[in-house]
Amino acid sequence: MEIRKVGILGAGTMGGGIVHVVAQAGFQVVILDISDSLVNEAISRIEKSLSKSVEKGKIPLQEKDQILKRIKPTIRIEDLRDAELIIEAVVEDLKSKLDLFRRLNDLCPSETIVASNTSTLSITRMAATVSPSERFLGLHFFNPVPAMRLVEVIPGLQTSSEIVDTCMDFAKRIKKIPIKAQDCPGFLVNRIFMPYAGEAMLAAQEGATRPEEIDKTVKQNGFPMGPLALNDMVGIDVGVHTFPILNEAYGERFPVPLLFERLFHAGRLGVKSGKGIYANGKADDEFFEIIRKIQDETGIKNTEFSVERLILRQVNEAIYCLQEKIATADDIDRAMVLGTGFPCDGKGVGGPLHWADEKGLDWVLDKLNYFKDTLGPRFWPHPLLKQYVAAGYLGKKVKKGFFQY
Ligand code: CAA
Repeated sequence: MEIRKVGILGAGTMGGGIVHVVAQAGFQVVILDISDSLVNEAISRIEKSLSKSVEKGKIPLQEKDQILKRIKPTIRIEDLRDAELIIEAVVEDLKSKLDLFRRLNDLCPSETIVASNTSTLSITRMAATVSPSERFLGLHFFNPVPAMRLVEVIPGLQTSSEIVDTCMDFAKRIKKIPIKAQDCPGFLVNRIFMPYAGEAMLAAQEGATRPEEIDKTVKQNGFPMGPLALNDMVGIDVGVHTFPILNEAYGERFPVPLLFERLFHAGRLGVKSGKGIYANGKADDEFFEIIRKIQDETGIKNTEFSVERLILRQVNEAIYCLQEKIATADDIDRAMVLGTGFPCDGKGVGGPLHWADEKGLDWVLDKLNYFKDTLGPRFWPHPLLKQYVAAGYLGKKVKKGFFQY
């Protein structure tokens, strides 16, 4: 099927970003939300971002105007009827999403491709609301959408291979790099990324060190931004919605840091509300009061901070994904580089599994055991890691680990 017109449901950060890249690639786009003001705010954010590209000389002024002309704002779902592809990017609430998919099912022709940008909810479950279900899949973008190259393509149990191929091709046409991942809570990238982002929140709420120090140390280790600044950019509200879903799915390996909920209730949603972990670029008195109360409740404070504490949570989850065949070792690492800027060499080779090979898998196993004993069972090393070490697969130093050298 040829895709010419794309409908985007939801004009938030992710919806707006998707509209931006799809319109910039030459497609007609309809953007829908529940009020004119929400849709218009998204369009003015896109306009601002395009103006920056004009200023930098990346696109001529006429192109900016043409891109904006291709975007049609609406609050009427009927305006999506003739789109060949519809991408849902509304709030991470299963019921709201299922209601929308049922309405789309009644409204659109049976060949319309329906995709969800969910980061945690089951594609297979959502696919069951449209008929035929084989035209439903996950297309998961990363924030900020114009800057991050990755799109995860997630087939549900019912998705046909033709629809997957069409959407892999669509992702390339909007200048993204698609990587296929199996349907599981968090899929590939969020499943590996969220333990790391959550561990940074735990370290902050425990007062392991100051938030600024956590972010600075991570950046000194080659990451493009610190995990706490990233949580503020993605949105504290997103954490409040997504962490409990992963905790429900995977149990104690994914504890929910109390800090998300406490910041949310204090109206600190991150960049979108003006303050989150940071206020004007630094942690303020209100933040320290919030973590003091958490420490009184949990009795956990002044724990150890090191960048390994954060990265090892990614490594261990990457091993789970490898063994469950959520993706290959190559794709796991490539996805983490393209979707989150995990440090890599000049050829783009890097990622949590390469990081582990570089450090030595015996060292990784010892460190995970140490953190399991000192910080808790969320660090329990995956059994596959023990098998690798026992078999002499120790990483780069012996030329074999998760990769061959
Ligand atoms: N909108 C549009 N473009 C943006 C942007 C935004 N909000 N922020 C940055 N960019 C673009 C810039 O225009 C610039 O483009 P050019 O190189 O073509 O000029 C490029 O990105 C680099 O930006 P900057 O030079 O201003 O800043 P930087 O080098 O510090 O990069 C960053 C900024 C891209 C955000 C970088 O810090 C980064 O990669 N951070 C990690 C982001 C990440 O991990 N995202 C995933 C979060 S998890 C998620 O999204 C999952 C989910 O389900 C919600």
